[in-house]
Amino acid sequence: MTVRHFLRDDDLSPAEQLAVLDLAAELKRDPLGPKPLAGPKSIAVLFEKNSTRTRLSFEVGIAQLGGQPIIVDGRMMQLGREETIEDTSRVLSRYVHAVVWRTFAQKRIDAMASVSKVPVVNALTDEFHPCQVLADLQTIRERKGKLAGLTLTYLGDGANNMAHSLMLGGVTAGMHVRLVAPEGFQPQDDFVVDAKKRAAETGGSVTILTDPDEAVDGTDVLATDTWTSMGQENDGLDRVTPFRRLQVNASMLERAAPEAIVLHCLPAHRGWEITDEVLDGPASAVWDEAENRLHAQKALLVWLLEQS
Ligand code: CP
Ligand code: NVA
Repeated sequence: MTVRHFLRDDDLSPAEQLAVLDLAAELKRDPLGPKPLAGPKSIAVLFEKNSTRTRLSFEVGIAQLGGQPIIVDGRMMQLGREETIEDTSRVLSRYVHAVVWRTFAQKRIDAMASVSKVPVVNALTDEFHPCQVLADLQTIRERKGKLAGLTLTYLGDGANNMAHSLMLGGVTAGMHVRLVAPEGFQPQDDFVVDAKKRAAETGGSVTILTDPDEAVDGTDVLATDTWTSMGQENDGLDRVTPFRRLQVNASMLERAAPEAIVLHCLPAHRGWEITDEVLDGPASAVWDEAENRLHAQKALLVWLLEQS
């Protein structure tokens, strides 16, 4: 059987994404129930960047499923010295049933998956954050009762992992995704092409804009993220001035649909991309969104291990 990986959002077909979301909802209803990783099956969870939610939710989730999470600071691995990603992957495949990795360039996780005999899961790269978007979709579905046909507007750095993943994951679910980003911070062209192809299959759509006004009007979901992602702290770009008009604040929210919800993957930079008033206000779904990392990732791992 071929091993299934989850390296980017469109690695799941629309039907597969729905199956994972259904399972996530089921596991949420009985978090300490099913133990499909009993044995235990061991899962390596490796970090080359900081994390609070991803680390904790994978560790707790794997344990809840009866498995053994092995959390490793990737910066302490031989990977950080001279051992290649491929050799690391070959070794990991001999020990564990799956590998979850937070790293930098997407090509690094592609290299890990290329020789892996076990599923590899992207826990955030510079280009994608697909586990986060599964949790986001679970949250939207809980609040709105559906995904297909809804409009999601993301305001911020259109070239970062969240923008790319919301775009690909959102259209996979049949959503209309509007990305609003300043010139110079637009999503990567080939990912837009991929998202448009996927949208053509699902009835979703992708619109890339620079002006927030029109994009926010009547939207069902408003999403944002930090203007400076991990690893971009010293990239020499002005990551404040062009973004100020994209702040998710009360007047932005007023333009959205009456029952619109607000998402932020967290950590939030309060007073920058989002105001306290919105983050702590009634439209905010961010704490459920953070909780759903746990349920969505458990579902993903169970699903991937069933396929492989
Ligand atoms: N949203 C998210 O991935 O959070 P962490 O960086 O804390 O894992
Ligand atoms: N875009 C952010 C997401 C953090 C979860 C980053 O990469 O730092």
